[in-house]
Amino acid sequence: MKESGFCATGSCKPEHGVPQFGRCATTDTGAAVKIHIEKLRHGYRGSDGRRHVALDDVTFDVADGELVSIVGPSGCGKSTLITLIAGLARPEAGSIRVDGVLVRNPGPDRGVVFQELALMPWRTVRGNIGHGLEIAHMPKAERERVVDRFIHLVGLAGFADRYPHELSGGMKQRVAVARTLAADPKVMLMDEPFAAVDAQTRITLQKELLEISMVTGKTILFVTHSVEEATFLGDRVVVMTRGPGRVKEIIQIPTPRAARRWDSMDEDASFTAARERVMKSVRAEIGE
Ligand SMILES: Nc1ncnc2c1ncn2[C@@H]1O[C@H](COP(=O)(O)OP(=O)(O)OP(=O)(O)O)[C@@H](O)[C@H]1O
Ligand SMILES: [Mg+2]
Repeated sequence: MKESGFCATGSCKPEHGVPQFGRCATTDTGAAVKIHIEKLRHGYRGSDGRRHVALDDVTFDVADGELVSIVGPSGCGKSTLITLIAGLARPEAGSIRVDGVLVRNPGPDRGVVFQELALMPWRTVRGNIGHGLEIAHMPKAERERVVDRFIHLVGLAGFADRYPHELSGGMKQRVAVARTLAADPKVMLMDEPFAAVDAQTRITLQKELLEISMVTGKTILFVTHSVEEATFLGDRVVVMTRGPGRVKEIIQIPTPRAARRWDSMDEDASFTAARERVMKSVRAEIGE
């Protein structure tokens, strides 16, 4: 895919998506551009009263249905980027568009899964997953159908009537993923969603997310500290520089997501080469 994200053919078709800036909003693989991030800059005022730049000149696109991982040193602005795309803060400069529409505020087109879960302890699994649909006034029977579908998809059948305190960390994480999916956002923004669970559960959740991403066709931005996780899940991996965070490079992972198997990735030479490249790039940034 071209990093500019725009159709290079000039053969623009209506099905390519929303025209942006007078050009056709497609990638050169033919997929529509889902998220367009251009020259993004953002910062915070520090305790010394001075403004610190957290993100600078960040530009990249995410195609419809693509899963893009983001890695980079701690403090390089990954969570800031997710917060801006979610519309929870306005960038100082630059723009974010989802389907060509400028992001100004939070909206149902963008679902976020953070590391710190915000499950409602007084609601069951079913109640938590259906909460957004209730707010959207979805009729009860339809809501139950949607909730059941996602309970099954994330492997929580049999736990629908449990409360969060009765669940393991991995199960809570699945509830958070299901709750976001049930609201049917155009894009899912995930900020280290599996960081707090044990290693074995994390692998299970990664496999499940890979499967879910393919079943639902969702466009996903996935922030992680783990190069293994980033490369196993991502179609591409965005490596960021240390702060102020910029896009250092974007590495394509050659093995199609459908062909990835956790147990046999080490036998896939092109995959391990890409993983090594990501690892080296991140290590160089953290000075190892
Ligand atoms: N609310 C805030 N107020 C002031 N500074 C902030 C705030 N949020 C983030 N920062 C600063 O902005 C920079 C980027 O922070 P951010 O949380 O986006 O990094 P990150 O890449 O997500 O880090 P980590 O990998 O540790 O989660 C850091 O220097 C951080 O100290
Ligand atoms: Mg963070």
